[in-house]
Amino acid sequence: MEKVRLNNGMEMPCIGLGVFQVDGNTCEKAVSNALALGYRHIDSAHHYFNEAAVGKAVRESSAARSEIWVTSKIWPNEYEDETAVDRMLDRFGLDYLDLVILHQQVGSYLAGYHNLEKAYEAGKIRAIGLSNFESERLEDVLSHAEVKPQILQVECHPYFQQWDLQKRIAPYGMKMECWYPLGHGDAGLLNEPVLVSIAEKYHKSTAQIILKWHVIEGRIPLPKSTNPVHQKENIDLFDFTLTDGEIQQIEALDCGRRYWHMTLAQQEEKFLNIHLD
Ligand code: A2P
Repeated sequence: MEKVRLNNGMEMPCIGLGVFQVDGNTCEKAVSNALALGYRHIDSAHHYFNEAAVGKAVRESSAARSEIWVTSKIWPNEYEDETAVDRMLDRFGLDYLDLVILHQQVGSYLAGYHNLEKAYEAGKIRAIGLSNFESERLEDVLSHAEVKPQILQVECHPYFQQWDLQKRIAPYGMKMECWYPLGHGDAGLLNEPVLVSIAEKYHKSTAQIILKWHVIEGRIPLPKSTNPVHQKENIDLFDFTLTDGEIQQIEALDCGRRYWHMTLAQQEEKFLNIHLD
């Protein structure tokens, strides 16, 4: 699979498997199947409650650990805890993680970021980043960071393209990872006439057209699927490209429609009340 070069020289496979709300056995099977199909990038989180299942599938894969990119996310109640990354490694049963990011922009996020920097310097994690930091708290972290983050992970799809954020992170050489890259599988998006006509031209599905568009524009999509047919389709993107005109047609779908939204105050109220062990 093609790779994306990060601002610290690390190379990340350009598509990852998302496993949000996929638990236990289903998750282990989905990850094992994905690795057998050629995926080399899995995106988990403490708050997904499936790190152990992901770790098991990675350890039991015939692919070398060094070939697989494993990401996880720290929940806010652990931001001040210097042992959070060690305990995360224990849950995965792995010696290091490729990327660890702060899951939400609430709580003691500067302390959380500092703890990530320490784990990075100690070689326990190969890259660090942020997820869902869309307020001025993004610049707050950037202005205090000794190690600039490599990644910002946010909702991003043709209906919500995040160009403002893409411009804000570009000067730091940060890359954007996309959750809900397929608009959460929304049939309205997957049946958009513009996408259908481009898909017909290349004998691909509209999901493949959307994923290819993300990859061409330098973002890293994290499509979620437990369906082996969809999983296979979602990495079968490397035998075609899109024209500039087609890319512009997809960019014209941007309409500010997001599938998940909470104000900062709502995020604080909700997320600070969730305590993970
Ligand atoms: P499934 O698990 O049955 O494949 P997103 O990554 O944007 O959150 O989208 C995930 C949703 O889209 C899931 O419901 C997933 O269902 C569906 N999905 C994933 N890949 C495809 C695909 N290639 N074609 C159609 N639907 C897909």
